[in-house]
Amino acid sequence: MNDIQILGKIPLYGEISTQGSKNAVLPMMAASLLHRGTTTLMNVPCIEDVSCMVGILEKLGAKVAREGRQMTIDASCLDSCEISLDYVRKMRSSIMVLGPLVARMGQAVTHYPGGCSIGKRPVDYHVQLLRDLGLTVTEEDGRIEVKADRYEGTELSLCFPSVGATENAIMAAVGARGETVIRGCAREPEIVELCCFLAKMGIETLGAGSGTIRVRGQRSRKDPIYRVCGDRIAAGTYLAAAAVTGGEICLTDVPVSYMDTTLRALCACGCLIMTENDRVRLQAPKVLKPLSYLETAVYPGFPTDMQSVFLAMLCLAPGESRIRETIFEGRFETAAELAHMGAYIEVKENCARIVSDGRLKGAQVTARDLRGGAALIVAGLAAEGRTVVKECDHVDRGYEDIITDMRQLGASVERIRDTKAHRNMAG
Ligand code: UD1
Repeated sequence: MNDIQILGKIPLYGEISTQGSKNAVLPMMAASLLHRGTTTLMNVPCIEDVSCMVGILEKLGAKVAREGRQMTIDASCLDSCEISLDYVRKMRSSIMVLGPLVARMGQAVTHYPGGCSIGKRPVDYHVQLLRDLGLTVTEEDGRIEVKADRYEGTELSLCFPSVGATENAIMAAVGARGETVIRGCAREPEIVELCCFLAKMGIETLGAGSGTIRVRGQRSRKDPIYRVCGDRIAAGTYLAAAAVTGGEICLTDVPVSYMDTTLRALCACGCLIMTENDRVRLQAPKVLKPLSYLETAVYPGFPTDMQSVFLAMLCLAPGESRIRETIFEGRFETAAELAHMGAYIEVKENCARIVSDGRLKGAQVTARDLRGGAALIVAGLAAEGRTVVKECDHVDRGYEDIITDMRQLGASVERIRDTKAHRNMAG
């Protein structure tokens, strides 16, 4: 098992660049299936979820080559319509391959991805939108099959602005004849990025970033080359890490315009933030301020993916803070782990009340999910003594190399492969 050991209370200083965005690159990789040619993506993060998506594309017959952070996907010939079950289990976002695959092949098969530790995460919106688009969807024993001969552009409407369902609907609509109007869309930056990427393929969309997106059904015309933007959640995590340690860091390659609410929340905690183009400098206050109320919301609201990291950060802000989670029902699991470090967090339904004396102590804790794991690393950086975060494979799904990055900023962090090694070190 992949554990991380941290010796806390070392202020972070220095400058590093931000990795490419996980949530932007995954739909782009799926969308590469729409193109009977070669797609080139740059600034692709080397993370587990990307490797998983590579596996899916290769099993469908695409040829994928990676050189550092550059990836080429040759989807000229595909020889399968079935998304491999192995990958469906590993990564929920495999569902977003359905739309482009059916648009390209007229048929697509996957399996129900099931729940995960942050909530039930059903795929009913995805399925409904594909049906509303005129596709035949059959669901049997967890298998989902989508079929279409020719389908026409139409009007679609989302009952909740789901990010993944919006992306799936856009990509499926590319295969329709005529225009599809999608209402009630998510406005997340990753959707804007997806549509800019599609434009490089010669596929026209209108309205990305607003609640209504129009997609003109058409064939891709150009081999796209696209640079993936910086990861707003990874950037937010690193800024929070500097904030809790009382340090001062500068991040480059930050998608500043996509991070407004996160940067505002950091300011509200007393951090001094300076931005210039794609650079963000954070100077931590001597003592963090608590937040009387922070609520997650769909974009442009405060991102649910930052919630766990802020939960950890507010455990170090003397006083009382409150967080309400409105997107995923099970996203306070990290609270119990933080309690092992001396945090006092009362969770009632989707609200957490944090009462802090400004200190955490090192302990052995377990990463329950990707962002929760990152939150525990942030907590460990500020805690007194040694923290071991177990099961950090979750963290590797989304962070390229958090250990090297934290070390570069001066932290004492190392990976310990198994618990026996840890016991020996502890002894
Ligand atoms: C994406 C992000 C994830 C982020 C989330 C919300 C990727 C790869 N992942 O996930 O990091 O936390 O947006 O910003 O981009 N829902 C349904 N039925 C559905 C689909 C969603 O009930 O068919 C519910 C979910 O359970 C959740 C809410 O809608 O409660 C939002 O989910 P959604 O926006 O779809 O998140 P994802 O696209 O899965």
